[in-house]
Amino acid sequence: MDRREFLFKGVFSSGLAILGMALAWIFSDLWTAASRFSSARWVPLSPLDQMSFEGVVPFPEHKVALLRKGQKLGAISLECTHLGCLVNVVDRGFFCPCHGSDFGPLGQVYSGPASSALAWHELVDQEGRIWVRLGKKFPSPQWVEVRKEIPKERA
Ligand code: FES
Repeated sequence: MDRREFLFKGVFSSGLAILGMALAWIFSDLWTAASRFSSARWVPLSPLDQMSFEGVVPFPEHKVALLRKGQKLGAISLECTHLGCLVNVVDRGFFCPCHGSDFGPLGQVYSGPASSALAWHELVDQEGRIWVRLGKKFPSPQWVEVRKEIPKERA
């Protein structure tokens, strides 16, 4: 191999290595950016035995509340359908402190300015722990039947 050929192979190999590293950096950056902006994800919320037989347990950090009606469990969004404020859980259902929208116990609109009901999330009961899928919302409850017995003191 002469000097010219040696230099050409060296430059060519270095160029390929630099190109490979640049592509790897670009793809890893795209990969992490995509996961950062993807809002559809499953989050663990609550062990089932910490919930009473009937009632609402809010998880404001995830903008969702678990509703339990006997053996049925649902996950309702706490995002107001007017402009997205976090609604509060109140005796008669949900109340938005921003502009006063009032929602019933299943998220139905009692009074505006919100004109549509609170949305619902998908959930699963995985061996007594409740997982909720954030990001994707449904217009009607996505009830799941819970199989686990309720502790007597909470029933
Ligand atoms: S954001 Fe809830 S009433 Fe306006």
